[in-house]
Amino acid sequence: VERTLILVKPDGVKRQLSGAILARVEAKGYAIANLKMVNADRALLEEHYAEHQGKPFFEPLVEFMLSGPVVAAIVEGHRVIEGFRSLAGTTDPTTAAPGTIRGDFGRDWGLKVQQNLVHGSDSVESAEREIGIWFK
Ligand code: GTP
Ligand code: MG
Repeated sequence: VERTLILVKPDGVKRQLSGAILARVEAKGYAIANLKMVNADRALLEEHYAEHQGKPFFEPLVEFMLSGPVVAAIVEGHRVIEGFRSLAGTTDPTTAAPGTIRGDFGRDWGLKVQQNLVHGSDSVESAEREIGIWFK
C-alpha cells in the first residue's frame, strides 16, 4: 500500500491544530501508521529540503522549521500521496481553496516564508526518501 510523509509544521503545532489536521487525514480514510513529535535539527531539515537549496526562501524555510516542534506521521492508503496533497491545498495559503487544510486554517502573516501548516511528500520516491529521514 502507498505511504506518504506528512508534517504538521511549527505554525500548525503552535496554533494547536495538529489534532484537527490529523483528524481530517483520518476522516478521509487514511491510516496513521507512525506518529511522533520532533525537534528537527538543521542537518535533518537541509536533507529534507535538499531540492530547495539555493532558492531565496531556503534559509527562511529552514529557520521557520527550526522554530518549534513538528509532528511527523507516516500515513498509508491507496493514492495517499496525491490524496493528501489535494487535502492540503496549494502552497500559498492565501489562495488555497476553502475546504483544504491550508485554505481553511492558513493565511499570509507577512513573513519571509509561506507558513502553510503542513508538508506532504510529492511522489513515491520523495515519500520513501523523506520517511527514511524522519523515521530513521
Ligand atoms: P511542502 O509540502 O512543504 O513541500 O509544500 P509544497 O510542496 O506545496 O511547496 P514546495 O515544496 O515548493 O516548497 C516547500 C515550502 O517552502 C513551502 O511549503 C513553503 O513553506 C515554502 N515556499 C515554497 N515556495 C515559496 C516561495 O515562493 N516563497 C516563499 N516565501 N516560501 C516558499
Ligand atoms: Mg514540496
